[in-house]
Parts: sequence; structure tokens; C-alpha cells
Amino acid sequence: MKILVVGKGGREHAIVWKLAQSDKVDKIYAAPGNVGMAEQAEIVPIEAEDLDGLANFAEKNKIDLTVVGPELPLTLGIVDIFESKGLRIFGPNKEAAEIEGSKAFAKVFMQKHHIPTARFKVFESHFEALDFVRTAGFPLVIKADGLAAGKGAVIVNNPDEAKATVENIMVERVFGEAGSRLVVEDFLVGEEVTVMAFTDGERVAPMISAQDHKRIGDGNTGPNTGGMGAYAPTNIVTESLMKQITEEILEPTINGLAAMGRIYTGVLYTGLIITDRGPKVLEYNCRFGDPETQVVLPLLESDLVEIFSDIIEGYLDINGIKWREAFSACVVLASRGYPASSEKGVPIEGLENCKSDSCVVFHAGTARKDDKYVTAGGRVIGVTAVNTTMKGALVRVYEGVDKIAFDGMQFRRDIGRRAGSVSTNYL
Ligand code: GLY
Repeated sequence: MKILVVGKGGREHAIVWKLAQSDKVDKIYAAPGNVGMAEQAEIVPIEAEDLDGLANFAEKNKIDLTVVGPELPLTLGIVDIFESKGLRIFGPNKEAAEIEGSKAFAKVFMQKHHIPTARFKVFESHFEALDFVRTAGFPLVIKADGLAAGKGAVIVNNPDEAKATVENIMVERVFGEAGSRLVVEDFLVGEEVTVMAFTDGERVAPMISAQDHKRIGDGNTGPNTGGMGAYAPTNIVTESLMKQITEEILEPTINGLAAMGRIYTGVLYTGLIITDRGPKVLEYNCRFGDPETQVVLPLLESDLVEIFSDIIEGYLDINGIKWREAFSACVVLASRGYPASSEKGVPIEGLENCKSDSCVVFHAGTARKDDKYVTAGGRVIGVTAVNTTMKGALVRVYEGVDKIAFDGMQFRRDIGRRAGSVSTNYL
């Protein structure tokens, strides 16, 4: 098969890496890809939002399967365009992807289908939103309705912070049109985990759980980022909790969307919080998570091409998906200034020393200059290690990180520490 992967981050590199292990694959293209993928894929200079450009490429090159990494092309309707041309593509169509594209849609949907989530209100007028937050209880979470590159949710602790946030989003439009509506919801307390699932629109196969580390600093301090590391599986999501999440969240989501005529196929991402009243949905995404994919796919034993193909054909064999009895951890290396800014063109040393059976490097913001790898973005590289114990995975991943260096390199030293503190199976 000839496969096209759309996207350019660590998530997409992990997808390319896993697809390349399938004996069903003859050739992989990545658009726009990144230089790290060049070992497994041919890089095609078409941006992920250039839907017609991608469809023309797929037609001209007789691509058998296109896999979409990021949310923007999905919410813009890339699947609808490809399908109208008879091209096979993995991911939800535009209507189904609205589950991520509009927070207000997702919240109202959850309320209607009794899917556990925080209490909320939706506002279309900033006057009404300001009126509400003047007398509300705190803390609260204020979210821009549309896509905001992971930055659209703000925790506010008092009326002044709430007023400033409402004005930033709805009046200043710091996230553009994404701020034309607003969701205000209760702040929930608990442990956050990610559960993603493969689905053909009818059957749902949850993947192993993972935990992201969203803040820049150790101990969950400093500003939010796209994700500074992850580990999988978590010991928070026990077998019985996974059953509860499947029955109370994943299946009702897919069934509820189907009942609205929005058949959801692809990967459904749920960002969950495990409260003392059970698991609740913080957010849906219509795609694989990043960096979660960098720890989940290395533990997938089954052939990813087969899973994608089965989903497109409309029959996912949920009992046929096998996971390795192992643990994985990923540490993200970011450039100086991230998340506010990033440095480009800084030489990266030691990547060649970080190749082994137990350690793999996924590129995100890298480029080639004078025959060397250099930084080209905020999150530069993800280092992932797999081991038979979580402790082993964490030791190996930091051994890998120690071999890599670039000026201004930032990373967290406490990835997986929470996993270590709560279970004898771990550290
Ligand atoms: N790790 C968060 C996300 O993928 O949106």
C-alpha cells in the first residue's frame, strides 16, 4: 500500500514509525512531515490545511490510505473532500469532528446524552458572560468555543480574572473566531488521564490509558504547553475503571453521535478527570493526542494499517487489537522560551547516540542545516523508551535524554513520577 500521513509533529512521526513496521506498506509519504520522518517516509511540501492540494496529491500518486494527524484539516472537512473523490482516508468527517471543533456543541451533546462532565453555561454575548462571572463561585474554567491550539481553556480564581479572560476571548478575540462563543464550566478536582479509542462508528476499542504533563515545569508549575511528556499505561485507569469509561463515556459518545446522523470513525480522544464522583469528560478531541501517541503506539502489538483499514471498511475487530505487556515513557525536549516563544536554527547534538531497541526519537520541531539537525519550533523532540516495568522505561528514557543536547534545551525531570508514587508495580 501507499500511505499518506498528514501532519508534522511528534504524533505524526510516531504514526509514520508504527505504520512503517507493517508488511502491508510499500511506501509512506508525509505532508508536510518533518525531517525526522525522512528515514521512513518521503516528505511532501503540502501544508496540512491545503485540503485540495492533499487530495490532488493523493489522486495523482494513487494513495491507498491517507491518515490525518491534526484536528484542523479534520474540522475543515478533509475527510468529506477525500471521500467525495473516492479516496480512502482515516478520520472523522466534518460533522463528526465538531465534537472537538466546538466546545459548546460538545457540552450540549454530553448533557443531552447523560455523559458525565462539569456543569456549564454557553454564552454568545460577552455582556451576559460578564454578568454571570460577576456573581459566580470560583474557581471556574473559561473556554473559547472553537479551536485555539490547546490554549483556549483558562482557569480563573476571582471576578477580575474572569472579566479579563472573557474580554480577551470575546472582545479582543485573541483566538480569533474561536472566541465568538464561550463556555464557562465548574472547575473539577481529580487526576487527569487520557483515554483514546479506535472506532468504526459502531464498535469502540479503547486504547491503553496515558497521562500527559501539560505544564512546562516540574511539579506541574508554570504555563500550559502542548504537552511536555507522557507515560502509558496509567495505574489510575484500572480494568474496572476502563470498563466504566467505555460504558459511560466512549460508547454513549459514539452512539449519541450516530443517533444524530454524525457517524464518527477514526480515533476519539477523551481528556478525563477522575473525580471522587467518577470519571468526567474535560474535553474531546477528534484525533490522536500528542504526546500521548508517542507512548501509546509503541505499546501497540497489532498492525496499525489493519486497524485503520478495518475502520474504513466499517468493521473494527475490537477483540483483535493486542497491546504489549510493557510500559512506555516519553520526555519532550523543548527550545528556550517555549511556550511563549521558540528558538530556531540551534544545532542539536547526540541524536545519533539515541537509537536502540528500547529508545526511539520522534521529531517535532526540527530542521536540517549544513548537514546537521537544528531546532525549528517550540517542542523539538520526543524521546520514548519502552520497558517491562515503568521504572525501567523511566530510567531508559532519561538515559536517552542525557545523550541529546542543544543550547536552551528545556525538559521536565518528573515525567511519570506520579505513576511511581502510587503503585508497587511501578518505581
Ligand atoms: N495532549 C493533549 C492533546 O493532544 O490535545
